[in-house]
Formats: sequence, C-alpha cells, structure tokens
Amino acid sequence: MKRKKSPEELRSHRWLGPADLRSFGHRSRALQMGFAREDYQGKPVIAILNTWSDVSHCHTHFRERVEDVKRGVWQAGGFPVEIPAISLAEVLQKPTTMMYRNLLAMETEELLRSYPADGCVLMGGCDKTGPGLMMGAISMDLPSIFVPAGPMLRGNWQGKILGSGSDAWKYWDELRTGNINEQDWREIEEGIARSPGTCMTMGTASTMTSVIETLGFSLPNASSIPAPDSNHPRMASLTGRRIVDMVWEDLKPSDILSERSFDNAIKVLMALGGSTNGLIHVIALAGRAGIKIELERFEEIGREAPYLVNMRPSGRYLMEDFYYAGGLVGLLEGMRSLLDVNVLTCTGKTLGENIAGAKIHNKDVIHTPDDPMQAEGGLIVLRGNLAPDGAVIKSTAADPKLLKHSGRAMVFDDYNDMAAKLEDPDLDVDADSVLILRNSGPQGGPGMPEWGMLPIPKKLLKQGVRDMVRISDARMSGTSYGTCVLHVAPESWIGGPLALVKTGDTVELDVPGRKLNLKVSDEELEQRRAAWKPKSRKFERGYGKLFSEHIRQANEGCDFDFLEGTAQTPEPEIH
Ligand code: FES
Repeated sequence: MKRKKSPEELRSHRWLGPADLRSFGHRSRALQMGFAREDYQGKPVIAILNTWSDVSHCHTHFRERVEDVKRGVWQAGGFPVEIPAISLAEVLQKPTTMMYRNLLAMETEELLRSYPADGCVLMGGCDKTGPGLMMGAISMDLPSIFVPAGPMLRGNWQGKILGSGSDAWKYWDELRTGNINEQDWREIEEGIARSPGTCMTMGTASTMTSVIETLGFSLPNASSIPAPDSNHPRMASLTGRRIVDMVWEDLKPSDILSERSFDNAIKVLMALGGSTNGLIHVIALAGRAGIKIELERFEEIGREAPYLVNMRPSGRYLMEDFYYAGGLVGLLEGMRSLLDVNVLTCTGKTLGENIAGAKIHNKDVIHTPDDPMQAEGGLIVLRGNLAPDGAVIKSTAADPKLLKHSGRAMVFDDYNDMAAKLEDPDLDVDADSVLILRNSGPQGGPGMPEWGMLPIPKKLLKQGVRDMVRISDARMSGTSYGTCVLHVAPESWIGGPLALVKTGDTVELDVPGRKLNLKVSDEELEQRRAAWKPKSRKFERGYGKLFSEHIRQANEGCDFDFLEGTAQTPEPEIH
C-alpha cells in the first residue's frame, strides 16, 4: 500500500482533529458513544451505509454481516461507523422501488458529505440498492467499496428447483388454468425464498452486483457468493480491511471509472443475459461519472459481446450453480479477450490481475466466446415510430418465433384497465394479438413499475398460449421472461407515440431489424397527436412532485436532471 495521506490530511480530521470548540464537541460525542480517543484519533473514519431494516427481506443477514465489515475495518486500523440508509425492499415497496432509487442516491451522497467520512462501505444488493448507493458514492467521490448481499439459495418444491420470480410467474399461470391446486401454490410460496439473500435468478440484483464488481467496486468474485455461504462473511471482513487502505491510497471512484470500465460492464451485462433494468442503471451510473452512454452503445457492444451464462430466466441454472461453476471471475477470465483488463479496481490492481487464473468448473453454466449460448448479447435496442427514443427487449428470454411478428393491438390504458380485462373470457384477442400497456413509464407509473411482463389473458392461457408480444413503457423484473418490449421512450404519459395507439391498429415488431413500428400513416398519427390530452398531475406536493418534475426518461437513465454530471458541491463548513 502506498500511503498518499497523513492523518492530518484525512477529511475526518476537520471534525475530530483541531483544538477548537467545535472539535471539542465532536470528540466529546465520540467519547459519549463509548469510544476511546485511540479508537478514532488519526484513523480513517469508514462510513458503512447499511440498507438493512425489518422490511428489507433480501438483506436480513446485513444486521450480522455489518459486524464482519466492522471487524475488518478495526483490524486494518480504521474507525467504522454504521449509518442506516433507506431500505428499498423490491417486493414490499410500492408503487416501485425505482421511484426511490434516486432518493437512496441522494441520501448516500448527503450522508457521506455531511458526516466526517473518509471512505465508505456500501451494503446493498436487492435490485435498486446497488445502483442507488453507487450513484451517490460516485457523486461524492470518496474511496468507496461495495458489499453485495449475495444471492439466496435455490428454491425447492417437491424436489423441483424453483427460481425467484421466474417460477412465481410460471406457476401462477398454472394455477390460473387449474394445472396446480391451492395446496401446491402454498407449498411453492413456502419454498421459493428459503434463505437470506437476493433473487437467485439472473435478475436485476445479480445483474447489478456483477456490473458493480466489473466496474471495480467489489472484491473479486464477491458478487457471486451466496448470502448464507461462510465465504460471505469472510468477504465482508476483507472488504472492511480493504477500504481502510483505499483511504490511505486515496483511491476514489473517479480514479476507477472510465468509458473503458463501462464498456466492460456492458459486455458483462450482455454475457450474463442480464436484466433489462441494467441498461437504465448503467446509463445513470455513467451519468454520475460524467460519461454519456447512449442506447446505441449497448447495441454496438451487443453485436460483438456474446451471451455466455446459462441462467434463468434466459437459461437453466441459478446463482448457486454460477458460483460453483467459477462465478463472475471465471466468466471474466473466460471472456478476457473481449475486455479491457487494464482498468483499475478497488483492489488497487487491474481487472486483469484480479481475475488472473480464475477457472470455469462447469462449461454448461459458464460458456466461453468460442462456445457461446448465443453469438450476440440478448439485450436489443429497438427504434421506430412507436419508440423514437428507443425501447428494449431481452431476446434471450423471448419466444424466438415472436421476434419477427405483426399483430393487432389490444390497448390497456393503465394497469387497472388491464387487470379488469385480463380475465374476461370474451376479450377480443387471439395468440397473434399485441398487448399494449401505457401510462406505466417514469412519470406515468410513476417510476416504471415492473408491469412489462403483461399477464397472458386467461382466455388464451386456457388455449395453451404462454407467450405473446407485449409492449409497454414499464420495466419488467429481471426474473421475468417473454416477448416483452419495454422502456418505450418517450413514455405515453408525456405524449409519446404509445399514447396514440388504438385497439385494432397493426403493430410490427422486427427484433433482427431492430424495429418497432405502428402501421398507421404519419397524417393519421398527427391527427391523433393533436387530439391527445395530457392527464392531470399525480402529485401536488412532496417527494412525488420532486420526482415528477425532475425524472429523466428511460433512455436517459431515469436520474434526476439536477443530480447528473460532475459539478463540484462544496464541502460543508465546520462551524
Ligand atoms: Fe430483492 Fe429480488 S426481491 S433481489
């Protein structure tokens, strides 16, 4: 370790060091908490931002795990302080955690700014927590390291393996059609989430913890360790040790992040067959580092980066299998030739040094570029008169027969409209229909709830239909599947073309051609646009108002306009 700082140059020294009245107050309060002077004097103060709470279902182990992080910080000569940060519990929080990702990012940045932190450990994992914590940390630009919650164990029902989310949607349809009974459903409910940790499919959580590790913010392979595995607390304490050195080395996010590291992250997103949410979060993370990523960048990289990891919902296996097969370091070493391995990481070493010698132990789980699952990445960007600013489809999780499809639109004006009609035995749809859900975007949802995997109408389920083309300005869970076109931009709530579609119009999806078009003349669309009226505002006060007034569109990362970029914010005065 190369020390670049003296104790007097630590940021926390401004609070704890000077011989003045203010510092007297700060020191006396540290003593009040039971710490001796030698516990903190001259040591890096490490803020541990913990997203644990009683509602944070995927982070139940963080209450204990934070003690492992603290142990590492103490061992390395730092002073750990745990600071709770807002829980974004994916399943429980409504209308969607995405509405609060930016709030966590703001909280992270402002906690780090307003308290005497020299560096931080970020404890997250459940979908939006990783991006939210990282966005704030990138903006604050203190030495930062991320402890991923780790995936939960495989689910189990009557000897069958259950995958988070994916099997819930699958068996729900089987219950709706009478293929399983209430007792089966209850047993599935009891077996699908059977340990601490995040969803164990390649959902948004594992996608983003893998992306964050690839960007250089977690110890090698940390994101792949299952939460209940004893390697997990050992990783946590090593992370605590490492952040102390990062402070002395003054190794900050701005030293680690570059266009090259984001290109690596996008390649990994493609290799994983990762969540469509990953596009939004990567754009937002890059925006905090002053790097503009257009949707086209995903498209360009996706044409060269193969899909390699055989995991649900696109493939067969689960995160536990991925870890045993070698985990993220195995994948990265296997695709080394596609990566820029000279980028710096939180270890103080390059990505290439971190992954050197990592092995793949099961090539059916982790493929290599010479034997890919699919030659191109599975996240495809579509454009056309229905999505002038882009839309996204996860082709690897779709029925290949539907990737080029033309059909008659069935439009649902919002979620309630859809829910009221789906069970109607006389709904005017057939297997070729294209289901459209609008008013579910960043402002319309609000927060783009994960409604994009529209349920198949009951009438068609009974006929054996299990996939259809579905189009919305919503997101879908990373654990979802189907031929679902998502993130249509601009969204219908602000008058995007999705607002102009009528039931009966013909919609043309051409995934190989990257196109999404409404077969209606320009003149007719102009007439409909002139007649379109915006809906009344959802929020007149509070966070909802702030959100509606400042949220960006999906293709721009859904950050708040005033949080993007790298403009300097002054350090607080210590008075
Ligand atoms: Fe927390 Fe899926 S619900 S990761």
